[in-house]
Amino acid sequence: MSKVVPTTAFEGQKPGTSGLRKKVTVFQQPNYAENFIQSIFDSLEGFAGQTLVIGGDGRFYNSQVIQTAIRIAAANGFGRVLVGRGGLLSTPAASNVIRQYKAFGGIILSASHNPGGPDGDFGIKYNISNGGPAPEKITNAIFEHSKKITQYRIAEAADIDLNTLGKSTVEGMAVEVIDPVADYAKLMQRLFDFDAIRALFQSGFRMRFDAMHAITGPYAHEILEGILGAPAGTVVNGTPLPDFGGHHPDPNLVHAKELYDLMMSPQAPDLGAASDGDGDRNLIIGRNIFVNPSDSLALLAANAHLAPGYAKGLVGIARSMPTSAAADRVAQRLGIGCYETPTGWKFFGNLLDADKATICGEESAGTGSNHVREKDGLWAVLLWLNILAVRRESVETIVKAHWASYGRNYYSRHDYEEVDADGANLLMKGLRDRFATLPGSHGIVAVDDFAYDDPIDGSRTEGQGIRLMFGEGTRIVFRLSGTGTSGATLRVYIERYEADPAKHDLDPQVALADLIALADSIAGIKQHTGRVTPDVIT
Ligand code: G1P
Ligand code: ZN
Repeated sequence: MSKVVPTTAFEGQKPGTSGLRKKVTVFQQPNYAENFIQSIFDSLEGFAGQTLVIGGDGRFYNSQVIQTAIRIAAANGFGRVLVGRGGLLSTPAASNVIRQYKAFGGIILSASHNPGGPDGDFGIKYNISNGGPAPEKITNAIFEHSKKITQYRIAEAADIDLNTLGKSTVEGMAVEVIDPVADYAKLMQRLFDFDAIRALFQSGFRMRFDAMHAITGPYAHEILEGILGAPAGTVVNGTPLPDFGGHHPDPNLVHAKELYDLMMSPQAPDLGAASDGDGDRNLIIGRNIFVNPSDSLALLAANAHLAPGYAKGLVGIARSMPTSAAADRVAQRLGIGCYETPTGWKFFGNLLDADKATICGEESAGTGSNHVREKDGLWAVLLWLNILAVRRESVETIVKAHWASYGRNYYSRHDYEEVDADGANLLMKGLRDRFATLPGSHGIVAVDDFAYDDPIDGSRTEGQGIRLMFGEGTRIVFRLSGTGTSGATLRVYIERYEADPAKHDLDPQVALADLIALADSIAGIKQHTGRVTPDVIT
C-alpha cells in the first residue's frame, strides 16, 4: 500500500551546477530527501510504467536514500527501477544504463568530489532519458515544486536487498538489482583498442590508478587489472568507503598529492591517474609532468582518432567557458565545430544529442564524449592509455610535442573555498559595477558577464562568470562556485597563450604571475575574502 504523507516545503532546494548538494545533516531532516524526490517527479510527465535508474557513489546515507527513492518511485507509478548492486553506480555508468535500457530518467545520489561521512556532503541529481543531467528548464521546475510541496507519495514496503543481483517488486513496480560494472565495461571495450592496451601493459608499462576510496574502485579493478591485465596493485584505494577514508575524493594536486609526489619521484610509473567520488572526473599525471585538464582535453581531441571508437574523426569539440582555449586550436586545425558553454555538464547535452560535438571537457578535470551524457573519468584514462599504446611515447613527450605544434595555453585556476558569501558577492558586484570603466585600463580590451545562447533549443543562460579579456587569448575569469555547501567558493581562472616553443617550459604560476597579481589588485580578492593565498591551485 502506498500512502500520502503531508509535508511542508524546505527552503533552498535549488539544484546547483550539478544537482542539489547539502550537508548530510541537512538531508537527514525528516522529509527533506522525500520532498526533493517528490518534487523531481512532480516536474516530470509521462513516466507511468516507465523505467527509472537509481544509483549512487556509495557515500554515507546512500543506501537509506536509495530505499526511499525506490518507494517513492513505486508510489508515483514508475513501472521498473534498475539499481546498481550495493546501491552503486558511477555517474557515467548511470548515464550509460539510462541510455542502454531506454529508461525515462535516473536519480544519481552523489556529491561528486565533496567529502563524505556523517559530517560530509550528500547530493541528489536527476538525469533525463538521454542519460545527461536535467537541463535548467527541469531543474528550475523542480525548485518551484519544492517551494510549494504539501505532500509526497511513498510505498509502505520493506527494504530491497541491494546486495544480491536479481528481481523483486515493490507494490507492482519491478526492481532489478544490476551489476554496476558489466555494461560499462562492455561499452569501454567497444570504444578502445583493448588488445593494444593489453600489449602495452605486457611490454612493462606501469601505471597507478588512485580510486580515492570512491566509486571507481570496482570499475578500475575489473577493467584495468581484470580485462586489460595491468599488474595487481595498479589500482590503489580501490574499495569504496562511505567516508572515502576521511579524504576529499577530489583528484587534484592537493587531495591527490601522494600520487603527484610519486609521479615526480624517481620511482614514478609511466602514468598516474585518479578519479573522484562519483567517477566522472579524471586526473592525468605523466612521469615528471602534470597534464592540466584543459591541455588533456585538447590532447585527447587531437589524438582520439587513434582509438577505434573515434577512428572516423570528431564532429566538434565543446568546452566550458572557463576551460582554456587549447581545445579550440585543435578544433580549428581539424576544421570542426567548437562550442563554448557555461560551467556544468548539462550544457553539453544538447550539442551531443544534435551531433554537433563528439568530445567535451571542462577545466575542472572533466572530459567525456558522446558515448554517454556525463563526463567520464575512466573513459579519459582509457583514451590516454589507448593513445599511449599506439604512440609508444611518454606522456611528457606527447604533451610537449602538442605544445610545440599548437602553442601552449598557460593556465591556472585559483580556488578560495568556503569564504564569506557576502564578501564574495561584493567582489563580483564590484567588478560588475566597473564594466564601463575597466576596458582601457591594465591592458583590458573587453569585459563581460558570460551568457550562453543554446544553439539547439534557443535557451539563454546569463551571469556565468566575469571575463576580463586582454586580447590574444589572455584573460582572467571570476566565478562563484555552484556546488559548495557552505559559504561561497571563488574561482579565478587565468590564461595566457604562448606560441613560442622556447618559452614553453615555465611553471604556470611563474608564467602567469603578473596576471595573478593583477587579478587581486583589480578584484580585491584579499580584501573581500580575507585570504592571502588560494586553498587550491590547479
Ligand atoms: C564544479 C566545476 C564544474 C563541474 C562541477 C560538477 O562546479 O567547476 O566544471 O561541472 O563542479 O563536477 P562549480 O563548483 O565551479 O560550480
Ligand atoms: Zn564528480
